[in-house]
Amino acid sequence: MFRRITALLGAVAGLVLLFLVVVPSAAPTPKATPAARASAPPAPAREPVNLPLRALAAPADLFVGTAVNMDWLPVQAEYSDWIGTQFSSVTAESALKWRVVEPQRGRLDFGDGDALVRFARAHGERVRGHTLVWHDELPDWLTSGTFTRDQLAQLLRQHVIDEVSHFRGRIAQWDVVNEVLAEDGSPRDTMWLRALGPGYIADAFRWAHEADPSAQLFYNESTIETIGPKSDGALALVRQLRAQGVPIDGVGFQAHLILDQPPPVSLQRNLKRFSDLGVATEITEADVRMPLPPDPARLNAQAADYKLLLDACLQTPRCTGFTVWGFTDQHSWVAGGLFKGYGAADILNDRFEPRPAYAAIRADLTAAARSRGDPITVAR
Ligand code: XIL
Repeated sequence: MFRRITALLGAVAGLVLLFLVVVPSAAPTPKATPAARASAPPAPAREPVNLPLRALAAPADLFVGTAVNMDWLPVQAEYSDWIGTQFSSVTAESALKWRVVEPQRGRLDFGDGDALVRFARAHGERVRGHTLVWHDELPDWLTSGTFTRDQLAQLLRQHVIDEVSHFRGRIAQWDVVNEVLAEDGSPRDTMWLRALGPGYIADAFRWAHEADPSAQLFYNESTIETIGPKSDGALALVRQLRAQGVPIDGVGFQAHLILDQPPPVSLQRNLKRFSDLGVATEITEADVRMPLPPDPARLNAQAADYKLLLDACLQTPRCTGFTVWGFTDQHSWVAGGLFKGYGAADILNDRFEPRPAYAAIRADLTAAARSRGDPITVAR
């Protein structure tokens, strides 16, 4: 329901933008006399070059999103303008992680999360809540404290319930658990698995559902784009959760790709087998890092990778969103030196200049919209 309303708001905002952007720019620039106009050849069909991504994605029923860095959103106009106009979905890059929302035990701080939700509402955007249960980005008091199993179970439950209740009705989709599998598809060895056993995953979904029955609940995972042991494990996990009646609605495929590794050509088949289980899927954290420096060949190969991700989603029933993990190098986690010698992972460079990947995404969305007889073709 909430998603439908948000999608509707997004579509309305998209149409308003469409008129603001396309209609004025469609007016002829040099002043033509009526006679000259009458003899001029008919104008060629215009590509909707100025339409924001969200308007291109709306006819395909797809949320197009980005991770948002709350250190920058309030202070950099170019950044917030892009986020407010181009996207129909936003994900908190860090603002909703446990380390940020409860830096001291019992002291909840949802300030950045509230600010993001307000921003999203003002711009007709959906919010993805990322992430409730993870082994990383935990507060120091939790990782360095000594707790019994019962205490840890109680702390985790309270954390999930506190956070989801705070945003009840305002966050459409939660990554309830994040990165719970090892590369071989077995349960990842984390403090949660060690203390609580594998049942913590089902419990987390149940707690989140109790706190906000209208929220869509996702399992988000890294490196499961390709069919192989890890995605097999993820599929088995989802099948098992569904069989147990656990309230899981979708699976997020992070898709942090690396240019000099084989592209995930089996992604579309892979998404389909999850979709066949009755869950939604989304690409939740797309970026494609490359060995530095970027050159035209690498940038074109990167564009092809972004297109592969988006295509796979567009071809899959119930693939409802395509989110990039930041859209400029200036704000990207990849640019922080985390991956030595790699960078240039985003659809815009660090001066907000579009890369071939940005054009590829636009072309792909336009083609998808056209094939569905969308309102964009009517507006042109
Ligand atoms: C990263 C953020 O981008 C960084 O800013 C932060 O310091 C660490 O986390 N998978 C995830 C995301 O699910 O939460 C991670 O985000 C990137 C990998």
